[in-house]
Order: sequence, then structure tokens, then C-alpha cells
Amino acid sequence: MGQALCVCSRSAITIENKRYYFIQKLDEGGFSYVDLVEGAQDGRFYALKRILCHDREARQEAQTEVEMHRLFSHPNVLPLAGHAFLERGGKSEACLLLPYISRGSLWSVLEKLRDKSSFMPESRVLHVLHGICAGLKAIHDKGYAHRDLKPTNVLLEEDDRALLMDLGSMNRARIEVRG
Ligand SMILES: Nc1ncnc2c1ncn2[C@@H]1O[C@H](COP(=O)(O)OP(=O)(O)O)[C@@H](O)[C@H]1O
Ligand SMILES: [Mg+2]
Repeated sequence: MGQALCVCSRSAITIENKRYYFIQKLDEGGFSYVDLVEGAQDGRFYALKRILCHDREARQEAQTEVEMHRLFSHPNVLPLAGHAFLERGGKSEACLLLPYISRGSLWSVLEKLRDKSSFMPESRVLHVLHGICAGLKAIHDKGYAHRDLKPTNVLLEEDDRALLMDLGSMNRARIEVRG
């Protein structure tokens, strides 16, 4: 880390000396933008999450999100492919490069089913829940809590493997109680 170079432009970005081309917008939140990008070297698709850090607290939260991704190597926690912090006019923008999960979030999968007046069969529901629990267990085993678990923060692979993401609110879970 530390030697990351981030050159943001409208159509391309360089993260950790690798170039990525903008394909399309995926999502937009209060202070974050998620775009689909393609790696120039490996031809793979990634989700590029850009977080506008308006103050030190937001910068720290983005740093936490990076560190939390790095802390886990688990089939149910989304890994981080790279990151960079872009400093501009005293403000910073965090760029998190994540593997692109084309099915999207659990929320969007359920919305699509609902729009077709369909539903997820029980066996698939149990499989998804099992994945969520396995990811949470990995997080809890290291003494952390996710603190923002909801269907928009769970991605679903083609085989219904759940991936916990949006780790910026994570914090130590254990508190010491003195009697
Ligand atoms: N790696 C990814 N692959 C596919 N879609 C993603 C990926 N990361 C984020 N998204 C989409 O972007 C949305 C917002 O991402 P998230 O990290 O939760 O941002 P925020 O912090 O603004 O909530 C997700 O709910 C999902 O729909
Ligand atoms: Mg989210």
C-alpha cells in the first residue's frame, strides 16, 4: 500500500499502476458512486466504488472500509482488488476496486423476482442465509461487527453464494463491561 496512484478522469482511472476503463454507472448513494470498469491489463470487470470524503471522519471511515476488506479472506466476504486515495483541494476521494458481481445485491435479485410475481424457493433462501451467517461468523470471530447488514449490502453470485460488502461501518464488536 502507500504507493497507490490514482488518476481519475471521466473515462479511465489508474489504481496501483493498473489502468481501468469506465463502462457504465451501477449505483449512486449519498456520498458514494459505484461504476462498472474494465481492467485494461486483465480484461476483467470490476465495481469501482468512489467515496467522497468531506471530512476527517469520512476519510477514516473509507480507510476502515479498505482495512476491513483486507482483513478477511473468506468466500462470503467481498475481497478488495485494489484501492487509492485521491487528494484534491484539501478533500479526498477514496477509490475501492472490487470484483464485479453481475447479479448485484440480494435486494435487486429479490426486486426482480417480485416484479415477475415470483419468489425465492425455501432451499435457495436457506442457502443464501447460510452464506450470510458464514460471512458474519468470520467477521465476529475476528472480534468485529458489520453494523450495516441489509439486503443492499449483500451481493449474490450466480450460484447464490452471498458476499457481505459495504464494510465502512464495521467496528470492534466486543466491549468490556466492568462490574
Ligand atoms: N462489487 C459489486 N458488484 C456489483 N454491484 C455492486 C458492487 N459493489 C456495489 N455494488 C452495487 O452498488 C450498491 C452500493 O454499494 P455500497 O458499497 O453498498 O455503497 P454505499 O456505501 O453507498 O451503500 C450496492 O447495493 C450494489 O447494488
Ligand atoms: Mg450500501
